Amino acid sequence: MNIKDRIINGVRLGDVGKGPICGTKELLMQANAEGTVLLKNDGMLPLKKGEKIAIFGRCQFEYYKSGSGSGGKVNAPYVTQVYDSIKALNYVEIDDVISKIYRDWIEENPFDFAGGWCLPSSQKEPVLTNEDIQFAANRSDKAIIIIGRCAGEDKDNKDENGSYLLSNEERELLKKVSSHFKDVCVLLNVGNIIDMKWVNQFDISAVMYIWQGGQDGAEAIAELLCGRRYPSGKLSDTIAHDISDYSSHSSFNEPDDIKYSEDIYVGYRYFETFEREKVLYPFGFGLTYTKFEIKTFSAKTLNDKILLEMSVTNTGTFRGKEVVQVYFEGICKNIDYPARQLIAFEKTGELDPGESQTIQIEINICSMAAYDDIGMTGNKSCYVIDIGEYNIYVGSSVREAEFVYSYKSDEVSVIEKLSPVLLLAAPLDRITGYGTKEKYQQISPDVYLPIPEVAEIVQTEDKGIKLDDVYNCTASMESFIAQLDDFQLACLSQGEGMNSPKVRPGTGGTFGGLTQALIEFGIPAICVTDATAGLRFDNGDEATSLPIGTMLACTWNEPLVKELYTYEGMEAYANRIDGLLGPGVNIHRHPLCGRNFEYLSEDPYLSGIIGSGICEGLSKAGISPTVKHFSANNKEANRKTVNMIISERALREIYLKPFEIIVKAGKTKMLMTAYNQINGIFCSSNFDLNTRVLRDEWGFEGVVITDWWPKTGFDSEGNAVDRKDFPIKAQNDVFMVNANAEIAAGDVIEAMKTGMISRGELQRNAANICKFIMTTPAFERYLQGEEIGVKANVITDELLKFVESKILKSGEKVNIKIDKSGEYAVEIIYSTTQSELMQIPIHLYINNVSAGLYVVNGTEGNVSSSNVSLFLIRGNNEFKLEFIDNNIDMIKIVIYEKGC
Ligand code: BGC
Repeated sequence: MNIKDRIINGVRLGDVGKGPICGTKELLMQANAEGTVLLKNDGMLPLKKGEKIAIFGRCQFEYYKSGSGSGGKVNAPYVTQVYDSIKALNYVEIDDVISKIYRDWIEENPFDFAGGWCLPSSQKEPVLTNEDIQFAANRSDKAIIIIGRCAGEDKDNKDENGSYLLSNEERELLKKVSSHFKDVCVLLNVGNIIDMKWVNQFDISAVMYIWQGGQDGAEAIAELLCGRRYPSGKLSDTIAHDISDYSSHSSFNEPDDIKYSEDIYVGYRYFETFEREKVLYPFGFGLTYTKFEIKTFSAKTLNDKILLEMSVTNTGTFRGKEVVQVYFEGICKNIDYPARQLIAFEKTGELDPGESQTIQIEINICSMAAYDDIGMTGNKSCYVIDIGEYNIYVGSSVREAEFVYSYKSDEVSVIEKLSPVLLLAAPLDRITGYGTKEKYQQISPDVYLPIPEVAEIVQTEDKGIKLDDVYNCTASMESFIAQLDDFQLACLSQGEGMNSPKVRPGTGGTFGGLTQALIEFGIPAICVTDATAGLRFDNGDEATSLPIGTMLACTWNEPLVKELYTYEGMEAYANRIDGLLGPGVNIHRHPLCGRNFEYLSEDPYLSGIIGSGICEGLSKAGISPTVKHFSANNKEANRKTVNMIISERALREIYLKPFEIIVKAGKTKMLMTAYNQINGIFCSSNFDLNTRVLRDEWGFEGVVITDWWPKTGFDSEGNAVDRKDFPIKAQNDVFMVNANAEIAAGDVIEAMKTGMISRGELQRNAANICKFIMTTPAFERYLQGEEIGVKANVITDELLKFVESKILKSGEKVNIKIDKSGEYAVEIIYSTTQSELMQIPIHLYINNVSAGLYVVNGTEGNVSSSNVSLFLIRGNNEFKLEFIDNNIDMIKIVIYEKGC
């Protein structure tokens, strides 16, 4: 059936309007409730009708809907606020004296956008006097403190006050409020876990991670507080006593080479094996407003499966949902296993007090296999089930899971024989073994296999075969590709962006039919855009803002996430988008990674399952997910060049695993490689990653794109460079992004001449790209007769008539007279010393109304330009540009009348 005729939730996809989608609100609220993690509750929550509460913290008026960077750039139609949402429920009484202190403070200390793209980790909080708080305690029954944090792309958290740690003002506030109020609830409006020592230092009654829940998050929180909903989230990470307790801590801040010496012992795998007492809140932990009892009443082996049956009973007094978590522990002869590994989970439906549900879970015995990268079991490069015991634990968190069954293996069984890949370049000491303290084992580098040659398809002349002939099976892909000459093949390997005029305005990028020649072969241009918390439109268009990835993972509810992302897919479809640049499924290796908010968990299985839900939802609406960042993007500082040094076992069992789960389940047709290197080779140019593992082992048949403006290799002096040929060789099919694919293709042709890449390699990649394109909405529109290849919105002298130009400062207003209403090009010409890797947002306002956003790159001292098309009204129009002053050295606005 045509994509556009699919009926989803009673709506025909082709009939969905372009703006944020109606119908999602309830799902957004539910995802918030199910992703909110209640860590502590002495009975203070839910609030009771008529109670008086005092709310502290500026986030009551400035809720963080997401983190920063590309994953947070969503122009939401609205963002709900905690204060307003509680007020609107008319259930409890808010102490307006305290809230006014915050309102006035914000007035005098407006939100600091310094850094623009990378927002500050936190905002300035006022210092309230003891008296303020004492009086508030006299007026109110309970206190709520909201703490906010923001991190994101290009900006890690720091082990500093106001970032991972509380600021002095926040610590003071907690101290004072908890000494005056009996009941204090702390809400954490954050993108990733933060230091929690304060929970035991002050007298706090309730703590909830409310994360960053998108446009409706604050409203959902109000309902949670007032008992209209209940929290049922479970941590997707371990919260340790101190940041230095994390096994990855010692290497996280290394600038260039990060040694993953903790190996497979990441997160709870480490704590449960070696340092149980260092955990404050275990992985999988989360309270509800009620209590549950999980009883496993049957556990047995049948053929190659372990079958479990359990009952979950709500033994408390409030309705709720529980997550049944299944872990295993291998105690084996030759190979070491972590003390616990998540192997299955299921969330119950809503259970009323006294109600029970039966859950059945099947575990494939082979899914407990370990990867023997050095031959500990005598089977190098194999997944093996070793001789030993495999104990199964069931419960509501990794710590509460109780032993229910043991599977015994009397022999070593090889489950899968693979070849060594992604090899170390130098010896690495890694943690191994069982017991109370970790031991180290040194593993040595292996020798890389050469990259095999790719057979060339003999080129033919243009035989008139179009891509739709391949689609209709009247011609083979091979005969279609044979017609493309080298330059056309090279153009196909290069994407364009951002804000390309060849696709929907304001989007991240495009690839495919970007040149006239390719368009004539029936290849449309494909539109992709960010991504992990809603659609990003840099032209100011609005889109639904969704809860962040971590929050979705904390729901432990894959069907819910799938449903939410079906709506997201519908919105993307209506906006003529073909691929969403997400989900991000990198592992939360360390709490300080800035992009943790976009990613899901420290556990690969949970990441793989929730990531699959996101992908499946999008695909239902015809949108391709782009699973990113493949792989091991685990910190942001130096992200374009940092080298992750990881054993093959840790790669396969931890860092590649979420991708493997998604790919093997057939849930995605597109992946994006990470910026970083793995063992000395950039992911973008890594043949083992993009070909041997992804395609040869996992059977992936889709397309792989690079991240935006990646480094791909080194020049002879050891400088990181962005050569276009290296990704092509690795089968990373499309280089994203260039200003102009034809110019970039020139470099590809040069590389062909020197023999760096072959025609066969380009043809192989072109087939991947075209095969993918045939599955997209853009191709369907072409099949249905829509003209493809809308001419680029290039400013040329013949088309345009100069109207006016002015040099401006940020915030400066200028009046420009427009003689006749109509289409105009508003161009900015600018120069900045910032590096070309820097993305700089410049907002355009006309008559005080937001009219557009230019996201430009640094020009390293050169002059560049960017333009938007706008309909302007006759008369005097007041223009204003807003940007971070020290980012731009000179900017000029130039207005042209179009169509003259
Ligand atoms: C980010 C990607 C994003 C891309 C396009 C890059 O800087 O790393 O995750 O999809 O930009 O915005």
